[in-house]
Amino acid sequence: MKDGKHLTLAIETSCDETAVAVLADGRIILSNVISSQIDVHRVFGGVVPEIASRHHLKNLNLVFAAALDEAEVSLQEIDEIGVAPGPGLAGALLMGTAFAKAVAFAAQKPLVAVHHIQAHIMANLIEHPELRPPFMALVVSGGHTHLIGVEEYNRFRIWGKTRDDAAGEAFDKVARVLGLGYPGGPRIDEVARQGDPDAVPFKRVYLEKDSLDFSFSGIKTGVINYLHTQKQRGHSVNVQDVAAGFQMSVVDVLVDKAAMALEQSGYRRLVLAGGVASNSMLREKLRAACKRNGTELYIPSPILCTDNAAMVACAAYHKQRLGLFADLYLDVWPGLSIETGLALLDAKSHN
Ligand code: KG4
Ligand code: ZN
Repeated sequence: MKDGKHLTLAIETSCDETAVAVLADGRIILSNVISSQIDVHRVFGGVVPEIASRHHLKNLNLVFAAALDEAEVSLQEIDEIGVAPGPGLAGALLMGTAFAKAVAFAAQKPLVAVHHIQAHIMANLIEHPELRPPFMALVVSGGHTHLIGVEEYNRFRIWGKTRDDAAGEAFDKVARVLGLGYPGGPRIDEVARQGDPDAVPFKRVYLEKDSLDFSFSGIKTGVINYLHTQKQRGHSVNVQDVAAGFQMSVVDVLVDKAAMALEQSGYRRLVLAGGVASNSMLREKLRAACKRNGTELYIPSPILCTDNAAMVACAAYHKQRLGLFADLYLDVWPGLSIETGLALLDAKSHN
């Protein structure tokens, strides 16, 4: 039942999760249904784009019906349809975007297009209603490692970003060379708990003094070299120690650069976002660092860190408040950057 609430239904299909959510007043989750394809892709050691698209097509109707059902609302009661047309896998994005447009057209509802990374950041607003811009966001996902100043709900400034691999990409690559399988990030998180992070130290790359950029591409080579050397010397490898050492080196850099970004920008609030935000070591070290320097820290529950549609609904809710609606010509943008993406989507929006 609507009960005078503002209802946003959103769809998310950027990678291998088919997700639909219904959010009330931009922060009360009425439903957040996620159909994961992890088991389908595991045998291939990673996401196969074509298979992901096919599964979205197969699952979308069911997930959509389940989301409305669980929320106990009808499509007619929904105020707008949100979707993230990029960035992500082209075929996967097409499925969700076409579905969102079809629903918007059939039910005569406004359509709101949001940037996938904007949605990851906005996930924090769901559980922390007191949180408002401005704040600094550390975004760590499979494709992004960015320090973003959120000046307003729809105005971002990039303070730093990775020059090569994203943090999640590094986790996935290192998990593969360690034979931990897919999905790599959660496997390293799990295995590292039994390891000693100081047993096998890896290099921390800070780049130039005061730089807020990141570089994680060398770390996979560091792990491969270590594994080769151990093999040549006839020594065994303690996978738990290597996973713990690798994880610690990535987390140390993320935490230090986030602290530097706060200092350089003057922001007193830090928000963590993206799939890697569910990493237990990162959460723990960031909490300790923020406690030490008096920074307010916001971290979403793990279910809101990895891809989900509640975060898209939250971002869509705030965009519709600004009167920014998309039309049925909305296309997908697989490579939509966070630097220019918000403005690009706004240019395609109308009041
Ligand atoms: O945000 P997300 O779900 O998708 C993208 O937008 O990219 O992030 C996925 C990334 C993957 O690289 C995955 O390995 C990583 O997040 N990840 C983790 C953990 N859970 C997911 N990395 C480290 N520790 C975790 N617990
Ligand atoms: Zn994501």
